[in-house]
Amino acid sequence: MKKLLAVVLMSTFALAGTFAFSASNADAKALFEEKCGLCHSIDRPLAKNKDHEGWKRTVDRMMKKNPGHISEAEAKTITEYLAAERGM
Ligand code: HEC
Repeated sequence: MKKLLAVVLMSTFALAGTFAFSASNADAKALFEEKCGLCHSIDRPLAKNKDHEGWKRTVDRMMKKNPGHISEAEAKTITEYLAAERGM
């Protein structure tokens, strides 16, 4: 019985973990689409592959084009998102 409970608990946590991940990934995607689609289409970054450092530099550069539009925290989320989706 204890064993069964452990299995049920473990699968519940595993499921919760999956949902938490997909929710935050969806948030990052929405943030990216909102912030990076302002001056050009999001196809511009999506057409490229860069490593983490490359995306960090690009996002940094884009931030400076319109100061205040993208916060440090948002830049970090977008950098992680792009490095994962369009890494190399
Ligand atoms: C304030 C306007 C503006 C915003 C906001 C903006 N961009 Fe740009 N972006 C530009 C302009 C202008 C260019 C073309 C000139 C250049 O490359 O500097 C460009 C070019 C690019 C390029 C092609 C050049 C390269 O470095 O590979 C990429 C990729 C890119 N942007 C990604 C992004 C991403 C990712 C975001 C969101 C974090 C973003 N942009 C937000 C204005 C913007």
